[in-house]
Amino acid sequence: MRIIFATHNKNKIIEVRQILGEVANDIVAKSELGIDFEPVETGKTFADNAELKAAGIRSYMLAHGMLRDDDIIMSDDSGLCVNYMFGLPGIYSARYLGEDTSYDVKNARIIHELRFAEGDERAAHFTCNICAVFADGRVFHTEGIFEGLIADEPKGENGFGYDPILYLPELGRTSAELTPEEKNSMSHRGKALRAMRDLLKKVFADDKKRGINQAAFPENEEVSGLVRPFQTILVVSDSHRDDKNLKKVLSRLGMIDYLIHLGDSEGTEGMIQQYAGDGVKCYFVQGNNDFFTELPRDIVAEFGKHKCFMTHGHYYGVNMDLNNLSEEAKSRGCDIAMFGHTHRPFLKIVNGVTCLNPGSISYPRQMDRRPSYMVIDISEDGEFTYHQVYLER
Ligand code: IMP
Repeated sequence: MRIIFATHNKNKIIEVRQILGEVANDIVAKSELGIDFEPVETGKTFADNAELKAAGIRSYMLAHGMLRDDDIIMSDDSGLCVNYMFGLPGIYSARYLGEDTSYDVKNARIIHELRFAEGDERAAHFTCNICAVFADGRVFHTEGIFEGLIADEPKGENGFGYDPILYLPELGRTSAELTPEEKNSMSHRGKALRAMRDLLKKVFADDKKRGINQAAFPENEEVSGLVRPFQTILVVSDSHRDDKNLKKVLSRLGMIDYLIHLGDSEGTEGMIQQYAGDGVKCYFVQGNNDFFTELPRDIVAEFGKHKCFMTHGHYYGVNMDLNNLSEEAKSRGCDIAMFGHTHRPFLKIVNGVTCLNPGSISYPRQMDRRPSYMVIDISEDGEFTYHQVYLER
């Protein structure tokens, strides 16, 4: 099993090797594999950003033929949360007052912000979220926190960043006055890494029982390769510029071969292709809210044994009935018609054509209002299996 850790920081990788060495003998920094891809941290939480990084690198590796079945891509996101500042700088810790501003200045500013705060009002903590994305798409998170108070003045030469201003009352020292060993034993990152080590042990043991992730156990040679369908299509529609669910689905789903978006992506096609990764062939059609677009109105494509007609549906009156749609599909030699527009999941044979709508991934309109999408597994002999999937509201 190989762990690819998304960091440039040599100290981090040393700590990761010390702690995770127990569960993986091959731990490399992404730069050691020549990966210079830097996912953009657009999340609102540490967990979001950690997952964006790990899932983005997994997609990159998949697209570049570098992903092995036994790979785990791991990343962390951390920062300082100051209660008196409503949790800031938080996920913006590195960017606080500007990426290039020195920590002397950042630290002095935080101390100034807390000039009227006393006692417990000075409470603050470092948080670290670690995300592990398996090659098969499974995602796991652990989190650790390291609590203290904002010091009256910066102290200590060890560590980095905000260490000189996190005062640990029970030790009477700041985090920058700890030795690296002391800090690792109690820090947010140390805790999150140890929790990840323990979690991975459990996951591997469970996988071994079920006979799936043999990769972590090279001595188990009867099973090899992960069980996955021959090819997978993710079908979504009506995201209307809100791609957060779609991103979640892509990172959770793991390997897919095709992504079909049935309209109203509203200009986010490039972003969606980027989240999906270069290795995923994406199809987009024009929706009634895709103004000034050059996207095609309809697409006909073959997958496995089937020929599919893909369209948004407003040109065929799908809000009324599916007669026009199914007739058009038939006239183009298609046995499947995929559409969106209604924001309601649907799967039925109409006039001899399998008509399907994945529902809206962002703005569902069916009774229970759960965002939805469809996954189609294509078997080796080209048959389709449909899975209508719902997200929590
Ligand atoms: P990253 O998650 O490694 O990108 O860290 C984000 C930012 O959080 C760093 O640039 C630091 O400003 C801050 N930070 C995270 N962990 C620590 C720590 O252990 N000591 C001091 N600052 C930290």
